[in-house]
Amino acid sequence: MITLLPTLWAGAARAADEGTFWMPPAASTFAKDVDFVFYYIYFIDVACFVVMMAAMIYFAIKYKQRGPNDTTPNIKGSHALEIGWSVLPGVLMVGMFWFGFQGWMDMAVPPADAMEVRVIGQKWNWTYQYSFGGKSFEVAGDDQACMDAGGENPEKYNDCSAPLVVPAGQAVKLVMNSRDVLHSFYVPDFRVKKDVVPGRYTVAWFEAPEPGVHKVFCTEYCGDKHGYMYSRVQVLPQAEFDAWKDAQLAKAEAEGALTGAALGEKLYASKGCAGCHKINGERLVGPPLNGLFGREEQLEGGATAMVDEAYLRESILVPAAKIVAGYPPAMTPYQGLLSEAEVEGLVEYIKTLK
Ligand code: CUA
Repeated sequence: MITLLPTLWAGAARAADEGTFWMPPAASTFAKDVDFVFYYIYFIDVACFVVMMAAMIYFAIKYKQRGPNDTTPNIKGSHALEIGWSVLPGVLMVGMFWFGFQGWMDMAVPPADAMEVRVIGQKWNWTYQYSFGGKSFEVAGDDQACMDAGGENPEKYNDCSAPLVVPAGQAVKLVMNSRDVLHSFYVPDFRVKKDVVPGRYTVAWFEAPEPGVHKVFCTEYCGDKHGYMYSRVQVLPQAEFDAWKDAQLAKAEAEGALTGAALGEKLYASKGCAGCHKINGERLVGPPLNGLFGREEQLEGGATAMVDEAYLRESILVPAAKIVAGYPPAMTPYQGLLSEAEVEGLVEYIKTLK
């Protein structure tokens, strides 16, 4: 174990540079932790394999029956041996759990100050939606254009689709869902992999310290063009990211395209939300929407619910699922009445209401 550790660290350090035989480059802050767990388990496995195979061959030769009178001695067993081969693997396995659990906790909880990007999977591309100060824009792959450009070559197809652009050195939180079937968002260089599910939001995050370009794969079989569902993450220096962001915001404004919070604001007025929900803290038939996001809501029956994207989505589509204490179950279900983009818009809009 003492001699193993430097090898472990060396393996992890190499992975940080240009990747190893087993691992792609480690380009996110927690990639090295993932690699450490991998190499920890890997080298224990290698050591066990070598020791066991050597022992097996040695014993097979040493204790081969040499003749009919070569009988097996009566062996009584050894407590020291029994305890040894139970405790040592036990300790090593608790290590696997502990390192794995710590790494998992880090990956499961995005930092509070993370920049948020909405990721929407659909057959067969990824759409990325950004919101800044209530203004939003989206970058999306154009399936047909990409198919025309790339033909049967998935890599070319990939180069054509719009990348997820993020700043270097800043935590990025991905809030993801699917417009159709199950997909999975996978960035090998970041060691990030998370299912993208219709009708539900899943969350992943990463922080890439250095600028660069990294591949995105869909890693859940989703249909005949699953293998084409490539994208990229483009990590830019902060200043370049800001310039890109401003250009995208200006372009979206010029095109008059409404997405995200801006679309939600329009729907709030046009779909009748305002008739029951104020945004200045006043109570009407329904609870006010300002200050709602991130709050713990008291429900009828004594339960509480955390107001996150999934709660807002459910409360728009199936309002009766969770009724806020002190309010009647009076809202129309909007299931089937709003498009996915419209639900997203409303959720984004409510998140901006302080
Ligand atoms: Cu999307 Cu596989």
